[in-house]
Amino acid sequence: MSQLVFVKNAAQLITMKGHSDKPAKKDDMSQLNVIENGSLLAKDGKILAAAKHEAIVQDYQELIAEAEHIDATNKIVTPGLIDPHTHLVHAGTRESEYAMRLKGKSYMEIMNAGGGIHATTKATKQASFDQLYEESKQRLDTFLEYGVTTVEAKSGYGLSLEHELKQLEVAKKLNEDHPVDIVSTFMGAHAVPVDERDTPDTFVDRVVNEMIPEVARKGLATFNDVFCERGVFTPEQSRRILNAGKAHGLIPKIHADEIEPYGGAELATEVGAISADHLLKASDEGIKQMAERGVIGVLLPGTAFFLMAEFAQARKMIDNGVPVALSTDANPGSSPTLSLQFIMNLGCLKMGMTPEEVLTATTINAAHAIGCPDSVGSLEAGKKADIAIFNVPNYLMLSYKYGMNHIDTVVKGGNPVVL
Ligand code: NIG
Ligand code: FE
Repeated sequence: MSQLVFVKNAAQLITMKGHSDKPAKKDDMSQLNVIENGSLLAKDGKILAAAKHEAIVQDYQELIAEAEHIDATNKIVTPGLIDPHTHLVHAGTRESEYAMRLKGKSYMEIMNAGGGIHATTKATKQASFDQLYEESKQRLDTFLEYGVTTVEAKSGYGLSLEHELKQLEVAKKLNEDHPVDIVSTFMGAHAVPVDERDTPDTFVDRVVNEMIPEVARKGLATFNDVFCERGVFTPEQSRRILNAGKAHGLIPKIHADEIEPYGGAELATEVGAISADHLLKASDEGIKQMAERGVIGVLLPGTAFFLMAEFAQARKMIDNGVPVALSTDANPGSSPTLSLQFIMNLGCLKMGMTPEEVLTATTINAAHAIGCPDSVGSLEAGKKADIAIFNVPNYLMLSYKYGMNHIDTVVKGGNPVVL
């Protein structure tokens, strides 16, 4: 028997229709395609129809009679949110570094003293597969509770073949076991291990010659990412790593211009990255190039907020034609949040984005940033029935009442999730 779910009478059914072919940019980021008093019918995990309530009732009477009904009266319905940049799989927390930063130490100072990414790498190396799985699963549960149905997850706290593979295997198993879908990124070039600091190019050699080929051979990642930042990996090293990934079928992503302007946005364009992420200090030239080549800017305002830094220039990027997506950057050092709803709020209040733009940036543009716009990111016939139902009467409320979880119900692959 087929499984039928009928989400009915939404005050606003936000479909995001019409952006699946290419990421939305400029004014298109405001085209949400909202249906008032909208309903949606899903069958066997896929969307059958999303339209005005009366129209669906007329066309699908018999199926509706058999379906499980979810009443969305006075609520809004959106595509399940998508988080396109997380460091989901890691062990432990770094609240003591937070306390140090509050007293004036910088993120980079802490990292250079062997803390930061190195501290989490140590904890992650020591953790067993099961421990990592358990910690990461709890984070995924929270993502889901906050309306996120797909996340990208990076490795990068192993910094050796064995432990990078462990992280990616955890992500793979969670993807199989957990309702939230995971798209994996290899990020062996997240930092140069402390004991190899004097010979960074030897480490880069290992990333290129040992890690990337094995990760690709095992099919454990879709993307390849690098932390291109002064004192971490230079643009030259980053170029080498991203091109090596490409040669093995891994699509480039890049942590670009986070702390200093460093040519990261320009490098993203040069290597044909699907996205450049962070961009707090991206140059005007980098922004221009990204717009010309359609490189998605994945902006992470939670990181700027938590590092007490200047925010990325979202307004400038959007006005100049860069397709923008938003993400939590969930990680224990620079953004320990799992709330994409709060990120939407920051997008509006701290980066000059509109409520319409932040919705686009956390649904269809986020789907584009992780290569799955054909299956998720909008409520259109044939796509996965990944649906977020928020207990607010209009979408403005989502980013207006801030710091709260507005989720009422999440439907994942056609299954109402028990939260
Ligand atoms: O995206 N910038 C580099 N990587 C992460 C932070 C990782 C960490 O501090 O553990 C980021 O901000
Ligand atoms: Fe990151």
